[in-house]
Amino acid sequence: MGSQITGFGAYLPPQRLTNGRLEQLVDTNNDWIVQRTGIRERRIANGEGTAQLAAKAARRALEDAGKTPADLDLIVAATVTPDRFTPSLACMVQAELGAANAAAFDISAACSGFVYALDIADSFLQAGKFRTALILGAETLSRIVDYSDRSTCILFGDGAGAAIVEASPVNGVPATYLWADGAQGGVLCAQALPLGEDPLGERVPQDIHSRAVHMAGGEVLRFSLSEAPRAMDEALRRAGLTIDDIDWVVPHQANKRIISGIIRRYRLPEEKVYVNIDRFGNTSSATIPICLAEMRERGLLQKGQRLLLVGFGGGLTAASAIIQI
Ligand code: UT7
Repeated sequence: MGSQITGFGAYLPPQRLTNGRLEQLVDTNNDWIVQRTGIRERRIANGEGTAQLAAKAARRALEDAGKTPADLDLIVAATVTPDRFTPSLACMVQAELGAANAAAFDISAACSGFVYALDIADSFLQAGKFRTALILGAETLSRIVDYSDRSTCILFGDGAGAAIVEASPVNGVPATYLWADGAQGGVLCAQALPLGEDPLGERVPQDIHSRAVHMAGGEVLRFSLSEAPRAMDEALRRAGLTIDDIDWVVPHQANKRIISGIIRRYRLPEEKVYVNIDRFGNTSSATIPICLAEMRERGLLQKGQRLLLVGFGGGLTAASAIIQI
């Protein structure tokens, strides 16, 4: 028994945060942002939580797959910006959908999270433990961005993507590769809670800056430029395929320069690599499923095509998967 992705969905909140608006907030300019990142605007969830974005993406994926919430028996949500520590994002989405027959839990693997979630769902389905899974990548990163830090606030946006994975005699996920290097974790970090130095004493006040995402951009960039291709090579090797067997590469949308590095390294025609970072920025775990849902909506996905997905970022983590539509 294998598994196959049968439905894709995405939801982007309507409010746009343009480079022009960021120019008013920090010492930056449109040319710098476009040249260094490829981003022109991102979306901001004004008043909506991660669960609301995720549930909207999930409904679209269910519709695309021709399934109902009652068909789901597993929900795996990847996020670094859950609305609550508990209940999990997956449980909140389950409640919102009324998916009463599902097990539900979250995973935290930052920008590699969707590929991790896919591998987890595929493994459960292959083992025969579940039949129909909803996997999610959903973030409201605007809640942990410090809008006075020009090195991070230009990058991140909010959004959600979802996919339905079904048990299938077809092997629709021929290879996956998951990896992490926790020793480098400090270069891309967001604090969950203050350290409990005096748990019975006065509570440590926690302002937004202590919770905000901090990044040593150059170091993360170097990691991504080397580890994304390595993860891609590993998935290709495990599947016994070469890059020429791949119809589409769908990379995490972190920085256009990383995507250009991938294009150069594999001598790929640009039209084989899906890019939407200009419109949505970096939505961490949500970038890859948002790309997939857009590709579906635009009629770019044909039956039998092979896609190579690659995620990389916080953790630090890197992950890749080959999927066959
Ligand atoms: O999703 C997780 C994975 N994420 C990634 O892989 C992305 C990681 N990193 C990056 O995308 C890039 O490192 C950044 C876009 C964050 C920064 O680009 P960079 O080419 O690494 O620039 P830099 O940090 O080396 O900064 C170059 C210059 C500096 O000025 P000086 O020291 O040369 O005078 C910065 O102070 O650009 C300055 N700078 C800015 N200038 C205008 C930094 N941020 C900005 C800004 N606007 N927003």
